[in-house]
Amino acid sequence: MYPEKFRKSIEAVEAAREKNIAYEPARMTAKEKEDLLAAFHPDYRKEEFTELKIGPNKGEKVPHELAAMLQAKSRIKASDVDLTKPDYDVDVLVIGGGGAGSSAAIEAHEAGANVMIVTKLRIGDANTMMAEGGIQAADKPNDSPATHFVDAFGGGHFAAKRELLSKLVCDAPEAIQWLNNLGVEFDKDENGVMVTTHGGGTSRKRMHAAKDYSGAEIMRTLRDEVLNRGIPVVDFTAAIELILDDKGNAAGAVLMNMETEALLVARAKTVVIATGGAGRMHYQGFPTSNHYGATADGLVLGYRVGAKLLYADTLQYHPTGAAYPAQIFGALVTEKVRSLGAKLINCDGEVFMHPLETRDVSAASIIRECNARGKGIDFEEAHGVWLDTPMIEKIGGEGTIERRIPAMMRMFGKFGIDIRKEPILIYPTLHYQNGGLDINVNGMTTNVQNLFVAGEAVGGIHGRNRLMGNSLLDIIVFGRNAGQNAAATYRNVELGKLTLDHIAAFEAERAAAGIDSDEVSPKLLPNYTGNTSGI
Ligand code: FUM
Repeated sequence: MYPEKFRKSIEAVEAAREKNIAYEPARMTAKEKEDLLAAFHPDYRKEEFTELKIGPNKGEKVPHELAAMLQAKSRIKASDVDLTKPDYDVDVLVIGGGGAGSSAAIEAHEAGANVMIVTKLRIGDANTMMAEGGIQAADKPNDSPATHFVDAFGGGHFAAKRELLSKLVCDAPEAIQWLNNLGVEFDKDENGVMVTTHGGGTSRKRMHAAKDYSGAEIMRTLRDEVLNRGIPVVDFTAAIELILDDKGNAAGAVLMNMETEALLVARAKTVVIATGGAGRMHYQGFPTSNHYGATADGLVLGYRVGAKLLYADTLQYHPTGAAYPAQIFGALVTEKVRSLGAKLINCDGEVFMHPLETRDVSAASIIRECNARGKGIDFEEAHGVWLDTPMIEKIGGEGTIERRIPAMMRMFGKFGIDIRKEPILIYPTLHYQNGGLDINVNGMTTNVQNLFVAGEAVGGIHGRNRLMGNSLLDIIVFGRNAGQNAAATYRNVELGKLTLDHIAAFEAERAAAGIDSDEVSPKLLPNYTGNTSGI
């Protein structure tokens, strides 16, 4: 239920609804978008970034919070563990139990590798599980991977690594078939044809979905497959340091039991980092749509052994995070709500932008509407603009919301807000890390042998902004790719002597650069209590 003081603005939205449904707002020009981003997108706030003083990306800018983690101390000293007596010995070690890690493990297992997943929470406790709107693939007659490429390349400001984006779009139709065959219940019409919709920045309807819980449906299926195959999953156990061999190649990880803090050694011929994103770093104080474990761990682990980052200065703020009520502050309100016809409306009931501009442009436009134009809702309880969900029922007919976005209806329904009848209050929320570890098309890091990366921990697939539905796609395409290539690689790997010498070398670099912070990394979990004695 909304407070009474919101009522006047809600009435303005209601009064203008019919007119706003009919109104087709113009798309912004390239110049308008550039100016808007420079003035209002959080990535352009210079004071929120700092130059890295050490490591392979020395001299490049990243958010302050990430710099602190990348340049922090290791949680251990080399002498804390005995590398000659590994607790686990595998061909492929997958770090992370979300969609990318599970896909990698399934393919490595399929190829005959002895593969193990280690995850700091449980398998499936990941951003994949929370993805809502869908997964892109150009598999309809009016579409093609080339068109998909053009949409994503432009949406990412022409910065994507072409070979990675090309693999993403070309492998997409097969990825959908793979998921379908594993048992994902995609939305289909009465003839069994998959239903597809638009997302921001798409020129064709290529978003495949399972209602508005696409990620949960995909994760359910992948988790079942991992468990059915008997792939070992070591849960509640975090990777806290990578191990190299004396040739400088990836050779395993030091693990920490999250309950007892006991240290374990996993020796591996190949390692796949699939640790996901960083929303719980709360860059610039933003709320997040992310899972509790999203603390940039993979970037930290990789960076400390010398793996390069690409575009670590660019984050995605999802335009529509829940701004009210406080209990769901920052939670994802899927872009599919706009695909189905809801428009963004300011406090006076005016449409102020096309609802399906790319995400960075949409987020910046909302921030401008609230902070520069003074056209947002601005009360102590909440701050944002309206997303006029009742439009969906008017356009698609009664029952559309319950049929297509039931989870959204339930989420708000719990707080007495019927989104079929009342609009939703939204504001941008930290959603995705566009940047991450730099990989080649085989999924291996560009400068540490036998270290693979998949999913949100990768940088460069999407350039400097990602389109909706290309993340669920990349965890499948690049997760499978990493698993297949790790399995092809391990057969030729002769492990040298295991070492953690990089820890002392990194410490020396810190000292030489005058970094004397006591912070340790990876962070593992956000600290919402202020209590510094725990993990
Ligand atoms: O809006 C959404 O459903 C989010 C999708 C995505 O990040 O790909």
